Amino acid sequence: MLPALQKAYAVGAFNINNLESLLAVVEAAIEEKSPVIIAVTPSSIKYADLAYIGKMVKVAAESTPLPMSLHLDHGKDLDTVSECIDAGFTSVMIDGSHLKFEENVALTKRVVDLAHPRGVSVEAELGRLAGVEESTVKEKEAILTDPDAAKEFIKRTDVDALAVAIGTSHGAYKFKSEPKLDFKRLKLIRERINTLLVLHGASSVPPWIVEKAVKYGADLAGAKGIPEEHIRKAVSLGITKINIDTDLRLAFTASIREFFVKSPKVFDPRKILGSAKEAMKEVVKSKMRLFGSSGKFL
Ligand code: G3H
Ligand code: 13P
Ligand code: ZN
Repeated sequence: MLPALQKAYAVGAFNINNLESLLAVVEAAIEEKSPVIIAVTPSSIKYADLAYIGKMVKVAAESTPLPMSLHLDHGKDLDTVSECIDAGFTSVMIDGSHLKFEENVALTKRVVDLAHPRGVSVEAELGRLAGVEESTVKEKEAILTDPDAAKEFIKRTDVDALAVAIGTSHGAYKFKSEPKLDFKRLKLIRERINTLLVLHGASSVPPWIVEKAVKYGADLAGAKGIPEEHIRKAVSLGITKINIDTDLRLAFTASIREFFVKSPKVFDPRKILGSAKEAMKEVVKSKMRLFGSSGKFL
């Protein structure tokens, strides 16, 4: 059985786009003695270039004995998956969540057949994350992950990790009213399958970071995330990988805004981005403690 499954903690997958975000994640992992997943989306690859990302992360991985995985987040097609494997990624996500069940199975299976012989693990997604709150009960049933379908999906694709939809969503505006996750569904999924379970859209949108960003000029009216106690409960019910992007973006933005207001004479990018890196690093460290992965690599 996988270490995170045995020990009831989750490993964080943090999205990076540049040197500063990579350093924030890696330094946090070293200081927290935590395993870590560096996540990169297709749009980050477009922004920073696959070769740069692959080489930067290789340098980071060689700088520490900590377990570190380079992961394609929300891969959409075989070409991207294949290019990422060639560039040294250790795991890939194929996101067929928008497809019909059979099409999702077929696409995912092709990725598994491509990745496994090269020692690369595969994450897939079943169910959809977006727009659950506005949906009717019937629509919600169709959007959230069905436990029996999840079991069949794993059996037919042999994926290593499955992203499940239990009411989270991407971005900073996750709930209009009270935050609510379908823990009963998560429990049923966990009872049926023994694979890594992934929670996307898991940022908490910490009020203190939002308040700081707003204080220095940001417009984030209505921003709301997943409360930390919900994350703890999700981990206790068997979530083993947790994806975080939005909270890093918010920390970066709040820090930069504050910096410009408080230090109008400074125009050295290393000072501006250096403080943003520290702000992201603090967020990553607090996530590692929240997920229970701190100290898991001594
Ligand atoms: O799901 C992952 C991200 O939060 C969206 O990332 O803007 O890099 O596509 P992206
Ligand atoms: P957040 O937008 O909640 O940070 O989710 C990120 C994510 O799921 C990346 O795959
Ligand atoms: Zn995601």
